Amino acid sequence: MSAVISTADSDRLQPSSGEDAGPAVVSLRGAVATVGGRPVLRGVDLTVRPGEVVALLGANGSGKSTTVKTVIGSVPLAQGSLELFGRPRRKFRAWHRVGYVPQRTTAAGGVPATVREVVSTGRLPQHGLLPFRRTDRDAVDRALTSVGMLDRAGDGVANLSGGQHQRVLIARALVGRPDLLIMDEPMAGVDVDSQQVLADILRTEVERGCAVLLVLHELGPLEPLIDRAVVLRDGCVAHDGPPPRSVGQHALPGHDHVHPHADDHHHRTTPGLLT
Ligand SMILES: Nc1ncnc2c1ncn2[C@@H]1O[C@H](COP(=O)(O)OP(=O)(O)OP(=O)(O)O)[C@@H](O)[C@H]1O
Ligand SMILES: [Mg+2]
Repeated sequence: MSAVISTADSDRLQPSSGEDAGPAVVSLRGAVATVGGRPVLRGVDLTVRPGEVVALLGANGSGKSTTVKTVIGSVPLAQGSLELFGRPRRKFRAWHRVGYVPQRTTAAGGVPATVREVVSTGRLPQHGLLPFRRTDRDAVDRALTSVGMLDRAGDGVANLSGGQHQRVLIARALVGRPDLLIMDEPMAGVDVDSQQVLADILRTEVERGCAVLLVLHELGPLEPLIDRAVVLRDGCVAHDGPPPRSVGQHALPGHDHVHPHADDHHHRTTPGLLT
C-alpha cells in the first residue's frame, strides 16, 4: 500500500513505497519457541513491511497464534531474533504503535467490564497512568462507531454475542490508531454481514498506511486486501509468497498444501504489549 501517514510524530511511519518504505515493521528471524515444554516454532521467518497486509495461514496447531504471540512479546523466543519498526525487540518501547486482537476463546472473561471500559484499555499504551482526556474519550467513541457498537457502550461485555464481542476487541485494537495491526482469526464466529463490515474497517486502516498481520483460516472477504501469505506447517514456514487462491476448504485443518496464484493480481514487489 502506498499511503502516507501525515503526522508530526517523528516516531510514526514514513511514506511506504518500494525501497523508501523504511525498515520492516516486523522482522522475525529463525524463531524457535517452546510452549508447555513442547517445541512449537522451529525456525520461523516472518516479515511484514510498512503498509503491507500479510496473512498467516496453516492447519490447527501449526503455530500461527504462537507466532503472533512472539511478535507481541507474550511468548519468549528460545532462539532467533525479532525487530519491530527496525528496533531490536529488547529496545522497542513504542507499543502504542501496535494493535492486537487475540484469538477469541469460548471462555468468558471473569471480570465484569463494559464495552467502553474494554475499548478504553486500548488507549493505555498511549498515556500510561495519566487520567483519560477528552481526546482519549473521542478516540474511544470513534472506534466504537467504526465497528457499529457505540449504542452498546454502557453494556457489559459478558452480555454480548460472539460477533459483537469480536467487534469490541477490534475497536480496542484500533483506538490507538496503530501502525501495525495484528489480528488472530478476526473472522472466526462472525456472520457474513459482519465479516463485510470488518473487511471495510480493515480497508480503511490499510488505506491510511497501517501494516496488518492477519491469522486466517480462509481469506474470504479479506482476499482483495492481502498482499502476501505465509503458510505454517508444524512450526515451520511452508510457503511465503502470493496468497493461495480461494483458500477456502484448502485451509481447513489437516489440509497442508496451497495453490499459489498463476496470474496473481494482488502481489506487489514491494517489555511486550500485554506485559
Ligand atoms: N499454553 C500451551 N500449553 C501447551 N501447549 C500449547 C499451549 N499453547 C499452544 N500449545 C501447542 O502449541 C501448538 C501450536 O499452537 P498454536 O495455538 O500456535 O496453533 P494455531 O496454529 O494458532 O492453531 P489454531 O488454528 O487451532 O488456532 C499446538 O500443538 C498447541 O497444542
Ligand atoms: Mg490459533
